[in-house]
Amino acid sequence: MSFFTTGMTSKEIRSKFLEFFQKRNHAVIASASLVPENDSGVLFNTAGMQPLIPYLLGKDHPDGKRLVNSQKCVRTQDILEVGDNTHDTFFEMLGNWSLGDYFKKEAIEWSYEFLTSKTEGLSLDPTRLYITCFEGDENAPRDTESQEIWQEIFTKNKINGERIYFRPAYKNWWSVGDNGPCGPDTEMFYDITGKLTSGMSLDEYLVADENQQVVEIWNDVFMQYLKKDGKVIGSLSQKNVDTGSGLERLVMVVQGKNNIFDTDLFSPIITELSSRYGKFDNERAKRIVADHVRTAVFMLSDGVTPSNTGRGYILRRLLRRAIFQAWKNSENFTELSSLCDTVIKIYDDVYQDLEKNGEKIREVFEKEESKFTKTIKQGEKEFEKMSDKDISGKNAFLLFSSYGFPFELIKELSEAKGFSVDEVGFKEEFKNHQDLSRKGSEQKFKAVLE
Ligand code: SER
Repeated sequence: MSFFTTGMTSKEIRSKFLEFFQKRNHAVIASASLVPENDSGVLFNTAGMQPLIPYLLGKDHPDGKRLVNSQKCVRTQDILEVGDNTHDTFFEMLGNWSLGDYFKKEAIEWSYEFLTSKTEGLSLDPTRLYITCFEGDENAPRDTESQEIWQEIFTKNKINGERIYFRPAYKNWWSVGDNGPCGPDTEMFYDITGKLTSGMSLDEYLVADENQQVVEIWNDVFMQYLKKDGKVIGSLSQKNVDTGSGLERLVMVVQGKNNIFDTDLFSPIITELSSRYGKFDNERAKRIVADHVRTAVFMLSDGVTPSNTGRGYILRRLLRRAIFQAWKNSENFTELSSLCDTVIKIYDDVYQDLEKNGEKIREVFEKEESKFTKTIKQGEKEFEKMSDKDISGKNAFLLFSSYGFPFELIKELSEAKGFSVDEVGFKEEFKNHQDLSRKGSEQKFKAVLE
């Protein structure tokens, strides 16, 4: 029997997922805004489960006990990893949900079926799947139930080899922050090399994971516990299933690519960048620009505007980083705001709000861009004067406060030239300034240090 990766588009993959679970009596619900409605203590939704927390805790959902969706998410803690093969700041999370209805058996069997079925699913090669389960600790027992369900599936499908591993809580226990619903999970990894098909020992799997030869494509969380102040304090009133599959990575493996930027979710932006900006000295910079512009478009559409605090600051930082990278690395720098339409077009028929908010998105983007472009042109001369040696805290602060150069950009640019920046000195300058500054401006500096 042979298996092939398919030529499915990201739109087809997203729709197939929703249809698969709709056929299994799940109601399709729309993605919530990137900006959380409930006071969850986070700036953006970082997982599909976040808008559903009240329902995981027991509240009745108007659409029933089985739900499915694709949720817009933003995670910026890995911003410096963006540009490698798999990290991005905006992503969509495909998820199916059981609110006190089905549990491990159905969840795992459907995950397997969706990934591998040639008719209803993605036709992925099951001999390239590797699985992790929770090994157990003081909060919950070893999840042998999930392991047995997986073993049964593999045996039934005549898939041999060691491919199921037990892993500790820091890998296979999921919760968002220190409070709320949580539980053990089972994660599915896909061998992107196509060469590890005979199974692997745990040690071999750990090496393959470390080398990104296997990539996580889906996570089934069995949410049955409650956490308070970082401690598991008991069971929830119902046993839930929260699954999450990052669409970008799923599309990557289905389209047979080794990085998310070559998928159809990014390639129109990358192509546009290459044709309009000429040579980019640095391939990674191009990916960073594509990622940050895409995230900015989604944030703007959901009503975030650039500012010096909170989510507005995250947006400003992404925009400035994108502009800076394009300006620094491309042959013919022109404004990036023209890429907004390229992003919007990728998602027509999927997130219609983007098209509807197009004018506003372009307007705010252009305004921020024109302001920042002026700043960097003025600041560039200063930076060049200073950057023929290690940059002192004082000079870094001058670039930051007078020319709007974000600290991390000063650091990146200096390091590219082989010089360091005195971060401790910068923070001291920062603090001195903060002490002196009027109350109203304190927030601004606080946000930058976070
Ligand atoms: N909440 C889990 C995750 O984000 C599964 O959806 O991975």
